[in-house]
Amino acid sequence: MSTYTEDQRKVTTHRLIEMKSRGEKIAMLTAYDFSMAKLIDEAGMDVILVGDSASNVMAGNITTLPITLDQMIYHAKSVVKGVKRALVVVDLPFGSYQGNSKEALASAIRIMKESHAEAVKMEGGAEIRESIERVLCAGIPVMGHLGLTPQSINKFGTYAVRAKEEAEAEKLVADAKLLEEIGCFALVLEKIPAQLATRVAAEVSIPVIGIGAGGGVDGQVLVMHDMLGINKGFSPRFLRRYADLSTVINDAVAHYIDDVKTRDFPNEKEQY
Ligand code: KIV
Repeated sequence: MSTYTEDQRKVTTHRLIEMKSRGEKIAMLTAYDFSMAKLIDEAGMDVILVGDSASNVMAGNITTLPITLDQMIYHAKSVVKGVKRALVVVDLPFGSYQGNSKEALASAIRIMKESHAEAVKMEGGAEIRESIERVLCAGIPVMGHLGLTPQSINKFGTYAVRAKEEAEAEKLVADAKLLEEIGCFALVLEKIPAQLATRVAAEVSIPVIGIGAGGGVDGQVLVMHDMLGINKGFSPRFLRRYADLSTVINDAVAHYIDDVKTRDFPNEKEQY
């Protein structure tokens, strides 16, 4: 259990807003299955994101685009069963909300009904305003996501830092204010200059959670496989690794293979 998590009450969207107003940083991490979600929740995580990064780290795709709504619901259902305290937010996958607001609402309703998660996340600003509003109208909390939005990788052409130029930075600030105004409960800012992210966090009242957006925001999110060192092929500057699980797992598996081959496993006590 984290030393910071004495409060065992369920985390709600309202409590995140309270955390921002009293200056308490919000910790968010991705999870995609029951067992890891349970461990992460028990450690005291505030928000668990069932990210469409599942497409990369669970399914082995190069981008987040291929993952389907059915697959996101499968991951979300597994995560929700392992979580008691954290707020569970689920990404609406590419192609499930950009077409029109009716489609967005139908997708968000499926996630809420079938997985029992508590909120959805949607990438984009003014371009998807109608879709976000329609989802919000159904009483479904929405977390926004601006800056580097991986579902638009084919438009950007690169995973480089976004909003370095003034025009893009001003659009990002305007989008953040719009998302606040229409009722999003929080906002992810991905891979943008720290100074810009700090400005956004100061200018909106909703919590701003950063990934590669510096320390001046209201909270941080990382992809679980990256921070635990399971996926070592991804090393952006913003990533801090808290474990080297790929080495731990490799060593343990190699040890097991060796024990099987040398007939060391199972021994007499490990049989009936
Ligand atoms: O899908 C994901 O993991 C995300 C985070 C990187 C914010 O959207």
